[in-house]
Amino acid sequence: MLTDNHGRKINYLRLAVTDRCNLRCFYCMPEEGNNWLARTELMSWEEMLRICRVMTGMGINKIRITGGEPFVRKDIMSFLSALSALPGLDQLTITTNGVLTTPLVPELKKMGIRAVNLSLDTLDRNRFLAITHRDELNNVLATMHALLAHNIEVKINAVVMEGRNIQDITTLVALTKELPVQVRFIEEMPFNGAESHYTTLQWDHVQILQTIKNSYPDIYKIPDPKYATAYNYKIPGHKGDIGIIAAYTRSFCGTCNRIRLTPQGTLKTCLYEGGGMNIKDLMRLGATDQELASAIISAVGTKAQDGHEAERTTHLNGIHQSMATIGG
Ligand code: GTP
Ligand code: 5AD
Ligand code: SF4
Repeated sequence: MLTDNHGRKINYLRLAVTDRCNLRCFYCMPEEGNNWLARTELMSWEEMLRICRVMTGMGINKIRITGGEPFVRKDIMSFLSALSALPGLDQLTITTNGVLTTPLVPELKKMGIRAVNLSLDTLDRNRFLAITHRDELNNVLATMHALLAHNIEVKINAVVMEGRNIQDITTLVALTKELPVQVRFIEEMPFNGAESHYTTLQWDHVQILQTIKNSYPDIYKIPDPKYATAYNYKIPGHKGDIGIIAAYTRSFCGTCNRIRLTPQGTLKTCLYEGGGMNIKDLMRLGATDQELASAIISAVGTKAQDGHEAERTTHLNGIHQSMATIGG
């Protein structure tokens, strides 16, 4: 078992397979896109598979594939297929924007993928276009329906943004009436690859809950699964449920069980950490599996107690990170 310096068991890897994306969500990257990494700077599929094998041998039993948008990288399906066969991996999940995913759903199901998180901030075509700079709402909705038709658990991630999608809070909640999905409202974090849009958080988890309560006064708290990032709620009579993720407030760090690998192989022990050790470089320098495992143990032994400490101690303050290069 991999344990950090605060006694927390680390069993969840978030692996970002690319920094590229076919959308331009305004909270994630500039409209013109980021400066994409060169192919040689990215971990290869073989390198990713190797590091995942080393990690599952150390107690990582859940891997979430993120990006950028995972499905824009060539050969992702063969990688997922190989990864899904790794011994010791109990849960393989994906976070996607859903634009290219619909035709792939049957194959994902065959691989044994049981849960997919879908980024979707609005159900309104014009607001979707304004937020993502692409007219793709219908493709995302098609993916949501295809996933549900294949009995794959769906969580919808909606970042809450003043002036952009506040009116969507209630329509997204309404979606849970007939559909067995979890809609999760997320506090916006300052990782948009440019100057922050705000100096202080405008919509925190308390305000988000209050807004939902104004339309759904019967909403009630349900237990949060172990290690959950979301506070979970239910509305009587609704098939789905609601989550609120205090991603900026960072109230869930005490039970953090996760580490991250960025597309270029940086091992991040916290989302708010600026730097991190580069695993890809170690592999390319000829490190053995044992040496990789030791490097991972050392890095995990320096994990910040919480996202606030990580932010205070980062040396990248002032440099504008994008969620697509961190990997969410
Ligand atoms: P589950 O495995 O379904 O619980 O998903 P998840 O919440 O771990 O993953 P997802 O990729 O859907 O992320 C949802 C939101 O939570 C995104 O905005 C993430 O950036 C945020 N998030 C995930 N992990 C962390 C974390 O460790 N710290 C913070 N502050 N936010 C996180
Ligand atoms: N703040 C909060 N969440 C974000 N995401 C992307 N950028 C941000 C941000 N700046 C979310 C998306 C995606 C998940 C991996 O991260 O909703 O689903
Ligand atoms: Fe792409 Fe996801 Fe970033 Fe949107 S949040 S631009 S879908 S990587």
